[in-house]
Amino acid sequence: MGRASSWGWGSAARHTGAMARATLAKEPSDVAAMFDAVARRYDVTNTVLSLGLDRTWRAAVGDAVAAAPGDRVLDLAAGTAVSSAPLAAAGATVAACDFSLGMLRAGRPAPGVVRVAGDALRLPFADAAFDATTVSFGLRNMVDPVAALAEMRRVTRPGGRLLVCEFSTPTWTPFRRVYVDYLMRALPALARRVSSDPESYVYLAESIRAWPDQARLAAQVQQAGWTQVSWRNLTGGIVALHRAQAPLTVARSPASGPAADTTAPAALRGT
Ligand SMILES: C[S@@+](CC[C@H](N)C(=O)[O-])C[C@H]1O[C@@H](n2cnc3c(N)ncnc32)[C@H](O)[C@@H]1O
Repeated sequence: MGRASSWGWGSAARHTGAMARATLAKEPSDVAAMFDAVARRYDVTNTVLSLGLDRTWRAAVGDAVAAAPGDRVLDLAAGTAVSSAPLAAAGATVAACDFSLGMLRAGRPAPGVVRVAGDALRLPFADAAFDATTVSFGLRNMVDPVAALAEMRRVTRPGGRLLVCEFSTPTWTPFRRVYVDYLMRALPALARRVSSDPESYVYLAESIRAWPDQARLAAQVQQAGWTQVSWRNLTGGIVALHRAQAPLTVARSPASGPAADTTAPAALRGT
């Protein structure tokens, strides 16, 4: 298994009034319900709270995934599929998978994107069904990130690629202090003006603060069985892209039995 390195492109719900938001326990039903509640204004809230940087980060994900026409790509925790559309624009067929039906329904239809309801910990896809798997701002919300990364490996073909885009730790200490202040004070206040469920953005701030830094996430990716793990910082480390490769042997889940049909239409239809 390759060593993780800095990529640098080189080597139980809390109830407040009528609203419920997830806690750092990340109980899946609470997380899904929370995203259902923010779905209607999710995309616009994201753009406001990130001061428009979300577009830059999504473009970087597209470049890093480097999907080719005909590629089968899984965009896990795709939400409204805002993260899937740029991948499909490159000519790939994209399965936008999420367990919040509210999020899946809120997005606009996009050519080349098939929406699939599914849980990251038990994906409704055959082994080795995808050429690439990506997850943007979703892994942090999962109750067991290492198990989810292992499940992503199962559905990615040997030699296929993984790209995780997630909030991370700014590398320059003075900038990190300003950023944490923004997260804990300004972001929830701003969310009260734009979000359909501002309480959820308190969870957002808390979950970002509790999330492993770049090196620790790389170690988790490796622990889940991915190889050649590396990362690249965006916006001073506010966001990091972790990439990795599926080992060149077929990943088989214990329950999957004989090799499954891995043709794209079957895989993308879901079961
Ligand atoms: C912050 S949104 C990200 C949406 C989109 N990828 C983006 O870049 O804007 C996180 C998404 O992760 C989904 N999610 C969290 N845990 C999940 C799980 N176990 N299985 C499937 N989706 C999950 C949530 O429902 C939510 O839509």
